[in-house]
This record gives sequence, C-alpha cells and structure tokens, in this order.
Amino acid sequence: MPETMNTQGTAQIQLDGKVLDCPVIVGTEGERAIDISKLRSSTGYITMDPGFGNTGSCQSAITYLDGDKGILRYRGIPIEQLAEKSTFVETSYLLIYGKLPTKKELDAFSAAFNEHSMIHEDMKNFFNAFPSATHPMASLSAMVCSMSAYYPEFTKEDPTKEEVNRIAVQLLSKVRTICAFSYKKSIGEPFVYPRHDLKYVPNFLNMMFSSPTKFYKIIDEVVNALRVLLILHADHEQNCSTSTVRLVGSSRANLYASISAGICALWGPLHGGANQAVIEMLELIQKDGGNINKYIAKAKDKNDSFRLMGFGHRVYKNFDPRAKIVKKCADDLLNKLGIRDPLLDLAKRLEEVALKDDYFISRKLYPNVDFYSGIIYRAVGIPLQMFPVMFAIGRMPGWIAHWKEMIEDSTTKIGRPFQIYIGSPKRDYVPIDQRGK
Ligand code: CMC
Repeated sequence: MPETMNTQGTAQIQLDGKVLDCPVIVGTEGERAIDISKLRSSTGYITMDPGFGNTGSCQSAITYLDGDKGILRYRGIPIEQLAEKSTFVETSYLLIYGKLPTKKELDAFSAAFNEHSMIHEDMKNFFNAFPSATHPMASLSAMVCSMSAYYPEFTKEDPTKEEVNRIAVQLLSKVRTICAFSYKKSIGEPFVYPRHDLKYVPNFLNMMFSSPTKFYKIIDEVVNALRVLLILHADHEQNCSTSTVRLVGSSRANLYASISAGICALWGPLHGGANQAVIEMLELIQKDGGNINKYIAKAKDKNDSFRLMGFGHRVYKNFDPRAKIVKKCADDLLNKLGIRDPLLDLAKRLEEVALKDDYFISRKLYPNVDFYSGIIYRAVGIPLQMFPVMFAIGRMPGWIAHWKEMIEDSTTKIGRPFQIYIGSPKRDYVPIDQRGK
C-alpha cells in the first residue's frame, strides 16, 4: 500500500474568518478526496458523516469499485474475469499478496492449505459447549477468536512477514473446517475430516455432506457455483465488516480477534446476513399467497420496517456486477441439476416488478449480490442459517488482505472517530436521599 499520497491541488475550508488549505488526494482511477486530517487541530471543528457515506478511512491498493459504472476489480483484475477463470485459492493469493501467483507459488500456497486444514483436537470440545440451536455465525466468531488461545505464537503485536503469511493461510484453511464441523454438530452427525486429495471447494462439500454411511458425490456444476460465489464475495473494499476488521486491528489486536469482530459485523441482515434474510422474505411472500404487490407496497411504506432484502447498496447505483453473475449462475445450476425452485421464479417476478416501480428507480435500488445467492445455496443443500457463514468463508481473504495492508503501513493510526455531544450540560451529583421519589 502506498504510504505517500498522490495530491493534486487543494480545497479551501473557510471557518471563523480562517482559511484552511486541504490537499486533494487522487487515486489510480481519478477518485478524489479532500484531506481534512488537519481540520480539528487547526480549527477545532470536526466533520459529521453518520454511516460514513462520504468518508474515506484509508488508502488501499486491494479492490477498486465504481458504483455508478458497476465496476469491481481485485488488484486491478475485473471480477468477471476472475469469476470465469480463477479459483478461490488463487484469488485469495491475489488479494493477499497483490499479484497472481506463479505455478510454483500457487502449488506452495495450496500445499499450505492442506498443512493447516485440521483444527486443534481440543477445539472440538467447543462444539459440544454450544446449544444445538446456536446460529453458526455465533460459533464461528467465537471459535476464530479463541484460535488466539490455541495458536498464541501468531498473536504477537508485530508479527514478521513469515508469521503473517502462515496465519493467513492457516485461517483461510481452518475456517472452512470449523464451518463444516459446526454444521455436522448441528445435525448430530460425526465430523468428517479434511482430505489432502481434494481441492478447496470439494473438500468443504465432502466435510459438509459425507458421513460414515454415505459418500457425497462431488458434482462439478455445484463446485463451480460455489467457486464463483466465494470469488464474488472475496473482497469489497471498505464495507461494514472489513472496516470493522481494520478498526479492531488498528488497536494492534491480533488477526484472529480482528476477524472475529468482522464476522459479527457481517452477520447483520443489512450486510452478510442478507442472503438468509432474502430467502426468509421469499418464503414469507410465498406463504402469504405470492402477493408481490403487497410486499412492494410494504417496502415503500415509511411506517413499515419491511425492506426488500437483497435490494439496494451503499455504493452501487446502477447495477451490482456480482448480482449479474450470480443470477446467471443460479439459472445455470438449477437447469443442470434439473431443479425447479419456486422461490427463484418468485425472486425473478419480484425483481421485475421492483425495477419498474418509481420508488426503486428513483432511489437507484437494484438487486445486490445476495438477492440470488441463497437460491444457489438452497440448490446445493446448504441450510439457511449457514448462508452468512458461506459469505464469511468467501470474505476471509479480503479481511486478511486489509488487515495485512493496514499493519504493514507505518502511517496507520488507531481508529478513533469523534462525536458531537448532545447530553446534559454540567450538573452536580445529588446524594440518593436528596433525589426525591
Ligand atoms: N427496500 C426498500 N427501500 C430501500 C431499500 C430496500 N432494500 N434499500 C434502501 N431503501 C430506501 C431507503 O429507505 C431510503 O429511502 P429514502 O431516501 O426515502 O429515505 C433510500 O432507499 C436510501 O437508502 P439508505 O438506507 O439510505 O441506503 P444505505 O446506503 O444506507 O443502505 C443498504 C444500503 C444495503 C443497507 C440498504 O439498501 C438495505 O437495507 N438493503 C437491504 C439489505 C441488503 O440487501 N443488504 C445486502 C447488501 S449487499 C451485501 C453486502 O456487501 O453487504
């Protein structure tokens, strides 16, 4: 990550008769930002930007996205090319190390996945401690954080490059095992251990769906659909969970703790929990007789908390390039598997009606990556509560890449925003016997 800033000219802020010159920072693709880092020390003012809709928190060389044009690139490479040609392991390497690996580098990276695929045997006790109805995002977050207790050698404040490399691949590989084990635990089946002869996605499917009495047959189309989804979810620059990972990591908390916090941020239905929420919404509409217009009206009603899940995005205001790929992928997979999912038909009808409605047109609300991803997970047989977990597995390389970029940048400061206080002015403490009834 460039520690220097490319600046072009200045913007002036005029306050209380003083003028502050603020450098204008320019990115690779011409994006512009006003550097207000001297504002508070020079003027005493802060800026107010709830939800950080206009605030840049860092410079980053990992992912570029242009929401108006529907562009998403990892390390400069368009998402469409990666979804078509890359593997999740290769894309992870690209995100974390900034370049496509050579054959030798990729072989070594894949071998390290195998080396680190097992979890500490004692960690299996964790699964017994959780109630059987535990949401897998709760156990995933707790287990990733507790990896800092099982692998304390990787929790140093200033890890070396080699240690960061090791922890990165270790996390990517072990998280897949933890997720599959948590599913097995939830259905009361014995764990299936990772296998060295299987690639990343088939290995996961085998751990999820094989059992002592049943061998899961790997279907290429299923592997391909999950590969595409993992790649599409792998990074999305400064989203809620990635910003959380960076904020927690900025205090020099270790990678496990930072990613555990990111998993919690991802869980919410406005972020990575949206894929689960979309299916729940479609099921609700279906049970209610498939009355799409009723739910469109509810989504538009300001007095109703109902939102069209899987619609809208903070950044994309034209289309979400990931959603285009996912929709086609869902169609292809269901066709190949010969599955007719009435929820897919309902989702398509809902999209059609919403995209013609002035409420959604005027607010530039389009289907996002999560609108159709749940249809694919359903077809694969992944249970509803595991949908956000699939997002978390996919987002892992992005979180790691951002944490790594941040700690390698010597200019990183602890994240610590300000506020405008609106509580009571100064008042004195009153002893309890003088407070009245
Ligand atoms: N249904 C109905 N109205 C909506 C929706 C929606 N899904 N999304 C936004 N709006 C309205 C919102 O009420 C507001 O209207 P008004 O201007 O009249 O007040 C306007 O559109 C702007 O919305 P906002 O809430 O200010 O936008 P935001 O950038 O703060 O929120 C969002 C983005 C994704 C949280 C939001 O669109 C949403 O809640 N969508 C549904 C949840 C969802 O699908 N999340 C997954 C996002 S993609 C996966 C990921 O990377 O996280």
